[in-house]
Amino acid sequence: MAGEPKLSGRLRAFLDGREGKAARKAMEILLALARVFGAERFVPVSSAQISGVSYATLSDAGLEFLESFAEDGRVRVPAVLNPAGMDLQQWREMGVGESFAEKQKRVLDAYRKMGVTLTCTCTPYLAGLVPRKGELLAWGESSAVTFVNSVIGARTNREGGPAALAAAVVGEAPLYGLHLDANRMPRIEVRLKGSLRSAADYGALGIVLGKRIGGDIPLLESGFEPTSEGLRALSAALPTYSGVSLFHWRDVTPEWRQWKPPGDTITVGPEEIEAARLECGSDEKEVSLVFTGCPHLGIEEVQTLAGRLRGRRVGTPFWIFTSRRVVEIARQQGLVEPIEEAGAKIFSDTCPVVAPSTEKFDSVMTDSAKGCYYMRGVHGSSVHLASPDECIDRALAGPAGALL
Ligand code: F3S
Repeated sequence: MAGEPKLSGRLRAFLDGREGKAARKAMEILLALARVFGAERFVPVSSAQISGVSYATLSDAGLEFLESFAEDGRVRVPAVLNPAGMDLQQWREMGVGESFAEKQKRVLDAYRKMGVTLTCTCTPYLAGLVPRKGELLAWGESSAVTFVNSVIGARTNREGGPAALAAAVVGEAPLYGLHLDANRMPRIEVRLKGSLRSAADYGALGIVLGKRIGGDIPLLESGFEPTSEGLRALSAALPTYSGVSLFHWRDVTPEWRQWKPPGDTITVGPEEIEAARLECGSDEKEVSLVFTGCPHLGIEEVQTLAGRLRGRRVGTPFWIFTSRRVVEIARQQGLVEPIEEAGAKIFSDTCPVVAPSTEKFDSVMTDSAKGCYYMRGVHGSSVHLASPDECIDRALAGPAGALL
């Protein structure tokens, strides 16, 4: 059995309450985590990404915890947030009520008071917070965690909201799990036959891996170079369907060379990918909402959307999710107008799963396998997983869709 984690004088001061009430609580949370995972010591983290932001998931108990924590809690490393339950500016357009909005704003005020940057996104690495290879982090959202572990080569466990906040306050986290070399080794080689055509296929690959490799870290091998949207889609689907927050990809990800090839190998082909896509979501019901941006889109994808929507009109509600930083860049590039003129809506700060506004849509089409999983599981919607192009076509093809 692991011994008690070693604490520096600095950390003892937190624990003794010499840095205030919230800092003591933060240290207690981290110490409990360290004991559970057998961490021997703590290490500085360079940033935190904190989940537990939407009032829909926090409720009054979570809000009260945050407000009390914010009385004297201050973050000591750069910290950003996961999506909130509404667009902080366009919440009325989302159909959010006054009372929810008021509580959601109080959540954000508490984080602001603690010094957290109010960037609410699951792709902070596309919105100004870009970790470097080898950096140790305390991030929370599963797709962000998997992307930075796998594609950037930074190191973070999937920290729950209180643990990520505590790490931001203390500036350190227990050293365990995916921080350590021993837990980042690939256990199975996955040879991909054919190619992956769209984000939906990468998501379907995450579903196949969840079924076939269980909790093992995969080393993927392909005859093509994966796209950056594809790597984000896989980063969202893999932890959703398997619980694994790290993958390696031969010739692509920064750590793959570091490891000996694992002994076991499986092959995944296009038929299996297509079957997983259909199984994930191909409900035949009339689509009442099309959405994209799970995970939040980058500027290149917004450019593509604006190009496809310019001069057209959507006939089915079409919601696009991204970070506020990307929306600001899109606005400067004149991309928001054609999207809005087409009748589509571009929202930031929030996501389709943690925003209660999407509950009213009983049948959704999306290019996100993770989105399908949660829209069905959390909101009970029927779901349809399709490529980004098919999503746009479907939005345009609704009853009111036409050339302007
Ligand atoms: Fe991001 Fe929400 Fe999807 S946090 S990955 S948009 S479920």
